Amino acid sequence: MYTQHPQDWIVEQAALQLAVVVPVLNERDNVEPLLNRLALVLAGIEWEIIFVDDGSTDGTIAEIESIAATDRRIRLIRRIGRRGLSSAVMEGFLSSIAPVVAVIDGDMQHDETILPSLYSAIANDNAELAVGSRYTLGGSLGDWSEDRARISKFATRLASPIMKTPLTDPMSGFFAIRRSVAIEAAPQLSTVGYKLLLDLVASTSRTLSVAEIPYRFRSRTAGESKLDGAVAIEYVELLLDKMFGRFIPAKLIMFGSIGMVGTIVHLSLLGLMINVLSAPFHWSQSLATFGAMTFNYALNNELTYRDRKLTGLRWFGGLISFSAACGLGAIANVGLGSVLYAESWSWWAAGIAGAAIGSVWNYVATSWLTWRKR
Ligand code: GDD
Ligand code: MN
Repeated sequence: MYTQHPQDWIVEQAALQLAVVVPVLNERDNVEPLLNRLALVLAGIEWEIIFVDDGSTDGTIAEIESIAATDRRIRLIRRIGRRGLSSAVMEGFLSSIAPVVAVIDGDMQHDETILPSLYSAIANDNAELAVGSRYTLGGSLGDWSEDRARISKFATRLASPIMKTPLTDPMSGFFAIRRSVAIEAAPQLSTVGYKLLLDLVASTSRTLSVAEIPYRFRSRTAGESKLDGAVAIEYVELLLDKMFGRFIPAKLIMFGSIGMVGTIVHLSLLGLMINVLSAPFHWSQSLATFGAMTFNYALNNELTYRDRKLTGLRWFGGLISFSAACGLGAIANVGLGSVLYAESWSWWAAGIAGAAIGSVWNYVATSWLTWRKR
């Protein structure tokens, strides 16, 4: 078809300079006002705006589509059955060919007026990373409660050993980065939870040249925050993965820790049934096993596999496959333990070895059977 002039269908346009990624989850009432503000501050830059949605149910998608229908600079990525701020933003970055990519929250809490400075620090001043910071001179947390401010500062301190590039505000969700640098870091990223910026500066092998630009965090006027208790656990998972992930997956550490708590649940149920209810041992042990199994399943579904959480009817299907996989794990555990014990290992060493193999089996089997990546 195009053999003679392979590219004669191309319509030349000005080259794209900046992609702004906007992660959204139920932000309908913020979409239009945010776009109005972005268009205003980005005048003079060749931009595209990429919304990344993880299954909004409030009409966010229709709102974006109706505006994007008449402006191709606005795009939408819809992810199905997945969640997670970091991975959503990273997918937005990877979907663009702009030399500079930026992220801004979809709820107008970030001060978009500094976006041109973030862009220019990279495009004109040779920075590789430009961060909107609440902790550098002139920045502020806005009207955050003292408690939340203290937690945020504590989390920042925990992060300092894993940062290859020192930042005043590694928790910031508002920054721009040279796309080539993001791509270089991509294979090493953990992309768990909320903190993509920290993940990025912990995943690059060298110190990046950074510009920090102060801004004041605004309060929300529409919609609500998606931050909940599990965010703290995901943060710990990110730190674990960055510190030990080369040797052992963070999800396995979490799975094992929940398993240990599960043992306590098991023994408590067993003791309760036998001592308080005077139930026969085999009934008590069966119920305690079932109870601990359900506990382990529910907690792993809520925390370890929050990014692929099973809900509704699938929750019960998950419990069944989890129980089946762990049943096989128990057989492996008893089998190996018995062999080692027969090889004259001490009872406790054989017991621990059996339990360890059983747990690793349970982890591998359930990550494949119960929480398979979709
Ligand atoms: N696609 C997608 N998937 N978007 C999400 C998800 C998700 O799982 N969770 C949250 N979002 C979107 C929200 O709709 C919002 O646009 C933005 O991400 C930030 O979410 P909030 O729930 O409003 O977070 P926050 O205000 O508590 O925290 C923000 O500010 C902190 C301080 O700068 C985030 O940007 C944090 O990363 C940041 O540390
Ligand atoms: Mn917010």
